[in-house]
Amino acid sequence: MKTSTLRRCLLCLLLHVLVSLAQGLDSKPCHKQDHDSTIQILHVHSPCSPFQPPSPPSSWEESVLQMQSEDQARLIYLSSLVAGKSILPVASGRQIIQSPTYIVMVKVGTPPQTMFMAMDTSNDAAWVPCSDCVGCASALFAANKSTTFRTAGCQAPLCKQVPSSTCSGSSCSFNMTYGGSTLSAALSFDTVTLAKDAVPGYAFGCVQRITGSSLPPQGLLGLGRGPMSLLSQTPNLYQSTFSYCLPNFRSLNFSGSLKLGPTAQPKTIRFTPLLRNPRRSTFYYVNMIGIRVGRRVVNILPSALAFNPATGAGTIFDSGTVFTRLVEPAYNAVRDEVRRRMGNATVSSLGGFDTCYSVPMTAVPTVVFMFEGLNMTLAQDNFLIHSTATKITCLAMAAAPDGVNSVLNVIASMQQQDHRILFDVPNSRLGVARELCTY
Ligand SMILES: *[C@@H]1O[C@H](CO)[C@@H](O)[C@H](O)[C@H]1NC(C)=O
Ligand SMILES: *[C@@H]1O[C@H](CO)[C@@H](O)[C@H](O)[C@H]1NC(C)=O
Ligand SMILES: *[C@@H]1O[C@H](CO)[C@@H](O)[C@H](O)[C@H]1NC(C)=O
Ligand SMILES: *[C@@H]1O[C@H](CO)[C@@H](O)[C@H](O)[C@H]1NC(C)=O
Ligand SMILES: *[C@@H]1O[C@H](CO)[C@@H](O)[C@H](O)[C@H]1NC(C)=O
Repeated sequence: MKTSTLRRCLLCLLLHVLVSLAQGLDSKPCHKQDHDSTIQILHVHSPCSPFQPPSPPSSWEESVLQMQSEDQARLIYLSSLVAGKSILPVASGRQIIQSPTYIVMVKVGTPPQTMFMAMDTSNDAAWVPCSDCVGCASALFAANKSTTFRTAGCQAPLCKQVPSSTCSGSSCSFNMTYGGSTLSAALSFDTVTLAKDAVPGYAFGCVQRITGSSLPPQGLLGLGRGPMSLLSQTPNLYQSTFSYCLPNFRSLNFSGSLKLGPTAQPKTIRFTPLLRNPRRSTFYYVNMIGIRVGRRVVNILPSALAFNPATGAGTIFDSGTVFTRLVEPAYNAVRDEVRRRMGNATVSSLGGFDTCYSVPMTAVPTVVFMFEGLNMTLAQDNFLIHSTATKITCLAMAAAPDGVNSVLNVIASMQQQDHRILFDVPNSRLGVARELCTY
């Protein structure tokens, strides 16, 4: 396929890939040998992923709408976390269903059992479904086959850090919600192998019961910055630093990389300070100070972007949301400038996207997220979503959905694709460099 064809098509490739799946996995370069401290990142629906959508979307529009509804659920969930409530009051009947976007292969136990865990920068805990789990769907971790597995006693210091922990027998259990689901897990320890690094005594939840259906089927790897997270458990090995490059949907092999530790970062990387919110210790907040559309800095009141530890307002980088969400005044300013540049071309909408055109959007060459010390320039691939079939192009960002009083700006994965994003906690900075994500 020609690059020019690919460039215009975000999702035709997904369909192409699903078709090739039927022709056999063997020819695909799956399960690359991990090297050093670098792990392959797969899109959950990549041909190398064990998870496939139950029924492939019948059209481009349908797949966009599906991604939007999952995103909406993600935003509601993130907003509930910043608000410090387990469930946010939202319009009745709204289901919170979210599926993971990116997965990584992690080996758990001795001998190692392979699990494809969802990567989540906005969560701290790690958990895997265990063999005796009630309600779990997919491949399960057989704790009794691992010689290094043990459960945590009620006196374990970590037992005080996990959410709503209880003593069942003499072992420490906890419940937590994820999206619209609830899980009960035994706080456990085992050796976890990431790329070639064995991490002995890693603390995670061995899931025993779930209710709801929105949990990543083979577990979650929390990459947040709070207690319990991978960073907090491996300070000597990785110096609380990691980076990732999220694969563009256009890349045939559909994989990116997660680099654990501070080494081998691009020379062109630029930094913005990471902000710490003691009340929401998980999140990677940064200070967004403006947004440029083409050459014009759009008119957004600083208060719409301001960081506020008390309310949780501000801007975060998140790996689990697909399309960037801005607070309403910020989104409206961006949208109005895009529409102004498009002149009198007819604007239409598609689901939650309200700025779509059936003519090329060449009048809007770039969008720049301006952070303190760093301008992140988005190429059209990072902010426009196209359909080759219907020739529709939409601005791939939105305001919070109706009824969700979100104070968060969420820089999402489509906008991060083909950039290396470095999370450097000891130096309190987040780095961004343009990079073609391949692995
Ligand atoms: C391990 O646990 C599973 C599920 O609880 C059980 O079916 C199996 O017999 C156990 N295996 C051993 C070796 O204990
Ligand atoms: C955790 O959930 C289980 C049901 O799955 C329930 O029996 C138990 O009381 C819950 N524990 C806490 C601390 O909420
Ligand atoms: C996909 O992976 C194979 C094997 O590593 C490589 O030869 C090929 O160039 C890759 N294709 C793309 C589009 O990255
Ligand atoms: C707007 O419409 C007018 C009349 O149809 C046309 O002459 C003009 O070129 C259009 N402007 C742009 C920017 O497309
Ligand atoms: C970012 O862009 C703005 C507006 O174009 C410019 O004034 C500013 O100096 C740039 N900041 C950095 C860190 O390059």
